[in-house]
Amino acid sequence: MQRCLNIVTALLLLGQTIADRPYDEHRERYSSSTVGLLKLLELEMQFIENLKSYTDLLSAKANTLQDFIDSVDRGTEKSLTEREKYVSNPLNAFGLMRRTHQDWPKWHNYINNTVGRGKVQSLDDILAKAPDSQDMKEALVGMQRIERTYGLQAYDLAKGRLQDRQYDTQLSIRDCLALGQHKFQEGDYLRASLWYRMALKHEPEPNAEIFNEILGDPLKDLKRNYAKATIINGLMAGNRSANIQEVLDITEEAMLKSSPAELDALITELLNQSDDEMAREMSASEPSPTPYEIGCRGLYPKRTNLVCRYNSSTTPFLRLAPLKMEEVNHDPYIVMYHEVLFDGEIEELKKQSKNMINGFPEPQQENKIRQVIARHAWWWEQTPTRARIYQRITDITGFRLFAEEELNVANYGLGTVFGPHYDYTPENYETGWFLGGPLVTIILYAGDVAQGGATIFPLINITVFPRKGSALFWFNLFDDGEPDPRSLHSSCPVIVGDRWILSKWIHMVPQMFIMPCIPRKLLSQKE
Ligand SMILES: *[C@@H]1O[C@H](CO)[C@@H](O)[C@H](O)[C@H]1NC(C)=O
Ligand SMILES: *[C@@H]1O[C@H](CO)[C@@H](O)[C@H](O)[C@H]1NC(C)=O
Ligand SMILES: *[C@@H]1O[C@H](CO)[C@@H](O)[C@H](O)[C@H]1NC(C)=O
Ligand SMILES: *[C@@H]1O[C@H](CO)[C@@H](O)[C@H](O)[C@H]1NC(C)=O
Ligand SMILES: *[C@@H]1O[C@H](CO)[C@@H](O)[C@H](O)[C@H]1NC(C)=O
Repeated sequence: MQRCLNIVTALLLLGQTIADRPYDEHRERYSSSTVGLLKLLELEMQFIENLKSYTDLLSAKANTLQDFIDSVDRGTEKSLTEREKYVSNPLNAFGLMRRTHQDWPKWHNYINNTVGRGKVQSLDDILAKAPDSQDMKEALVGMQRIERTYGLQAYDLAKGRLQDRQYDTQLSIRDCLALGQHKFQEGDYLRASLWYRMALKHEPEPNAEIFNEILGDPLKDLKRNYAKATIINGLMAGNRSANIQEVLDITEEAMLKSSPAELDALITELLNQSDDEMAREMSASEPSPTPYEIGCRGLYPKRTNLVCRYNSSTTPFLRLAPLKMEEVNHDPYIVMYHEVLFDGEIEELKKQSKNMINGFPEPQQENKIRQVIARHAWWWEQTPTRARIYQRITDITGFRLFAEEELNVANYGLGTVFGPHYDYTPENYETGWFLGGPLVTIILYAGDVAQGGATIFPLINITVFPRKGSALFWFNLFDDGEPDPRSLHSSCPVIVGDRWILSKWIHMVPQMFIMPCIPRKLLSQKE
């Protein structure tokens, strides 16, 4: 409870000092979790259903009008003589009089009535739930995170290639353009240029002329912007300490001086190079990947002295049902248990997602708008499933849990992460909590993540890729309760997959009488 309150208080304080407008952690951020993205997909389906019924109404009206046209437009009286003959007949003359007097106002009325007013109104309601600009920005930042963390290239992404896998999906010209524009605004001229390039090379949208009338022409200014981003990137690469405003001014001036023909020649020349050659050449002066990025890519130096075995020694339970245990690291002690969480339990924990909130903030970055990291919820309700999970954690680890303790359920979304952090904080450590510090953290992976989404320990070069049903277990504190800084950990953005995790912090105080279970070597390492 105390921990929860601490976090909530921290969230409230941060919300007041950092965000321009009141931060509402309950406000849906579609891109921050797969739960949210599913809601958004459902919203799009509603939108399309609505358009379908609207279109049906429109075509019913068009059909009715067509029937009327067919009934009147006989197309026979072509010449003046024929027409004279027609009106000379009193029956025709009367019919003409009656129709034009009686029927026309009714048809006019019919035409003047707006079709599907109700449908348009429900579209308004759907539109009110559409992602706002903040949500869109989170999605752009999420894409940027995926791109940078894994060193993915625009030309691969645009064509549905993610790392070494080809997916049957592609970005549209408007998607590429939006990504390019975002990067340009963010001052990432390298990637802006590469995305503009993908937009330029994109085959035209089907029915482009019709859609452009409504959505705008994506090609408008595209060549200029591509040239601009490329020139700026080139100038910056030539002089890393150049003043950006000066560079922008020089570029603007050069663009003004050059004729459309010169601009076209430049673009032709740029597009004549191959995509990977272009990307390689342009990014030659980019900084090399950070340790975080190396970890997320699974490229820390390989370890050799680790084994997999059945652990049946911790508790009597394990003697009956030994668990497959994989050593992740000896010092500090980190292990992974497999086949710990069952599908039925996962179904139930997903039900805890109904009232998820946005979290967690990154408190270090005080001058930045806080990032929506993922959606998470505290699972307080003491259901039989939760009790079973607690019992299993005790069986596995030998540690005691109280039924009243919290359990955290989190779900990640488009490029969302939980940056490097400790599970203890200096304040918590000094004041101590009701249950004592978070001696151990156990993360239960409850979703399938095909690519990315690792948990990494950047100070000790450890990457753990999630596996549905497995549990990762590590110590945050030494035996005497002192924090172990090597427990710094972080999640990596998911590339493809549905990342769900359950986090349980095992506190110090309830373990008072069973501490011998903690590997003794931890004590000896502490100077
Ligand atoms: C056409 O519809 C508008 C509102 O929909 C109404 O104000 C106007 O009077 C209508 N015109 C006729 C001729 O009925
Ligand atoms: C790089 O840019 C800075 C700031 O605009 C300038 O003072 C410096 O002379 C430039 N260096 C080179 C090598 O052009
Ligand atoms: C395109 O590049 C090839 C070599 O890669 C070169 O031979 C050709 O002249 C170039 N075309 C244009 C229009 O620059
Ligand atoms: C079994 O797991 C416990 C808790 O992680 C650990 O203390 C113990 O050393 C393990 N036993 C074996 C044989 O690996
Ligand atoms: C982590 O790996 C880097 C090389 O990628 C190495 O320089 C460093 O010493 C390693 N750190 C630890 C704690 O193993």
